Amino acid sequence: MAVQWRGAMTTGSPVLDNDHQILIGLLNEVENAIDNHSMTVIGSALEDLLQYTVDHFEREELIQAQLHYSDAKTHKKLHDDLRNQVIHLNESFKALTDKVQKKELAGEIHTFLNAWLVNHIMQEDIKIRPLLNKR
Ligand SMILES: [Fe+2]
Repeated sequence: MAVQWRGAMTTGSPVLDNDHQILIGLLNEVENAIDNHSMTVIGSALEDLLQYTVDHFEREELIQAQLHYSDAKTHKKLHDDLRNQVIHLNESFKALTDKVQKKELAGEIHTFLNAWLVNHIMQEDIKIRPLLNKR
């Protein structure tokens, strides 16, 4: 089921809140592609999501550094772990030739990232909110 960005996901950084909304949009596009479109469309939606996730992490880490966020190091570790998983999942996806298996893996990647990202935004990313409110 498609996710929606909600108020509880607000970090207080317009850049990051916008990034998170785009991420959710990309997650939903992957889901829609799996349900309704060809493997080419699924592959490119997945590629967009994975690339954007990696790009977004970089922006977020920079903003956290600028804010002197005290847990920035621990947070980066969470990103690093996911980055590694994303790279691995993407390689597995590209290596598959069987369409049924490919579609199945795309579904698994979507379910995994959907849960990970929503949970991460709501549990971890919002922790910078007090730093932004102080300004
Ligand atoms: Fe994060």
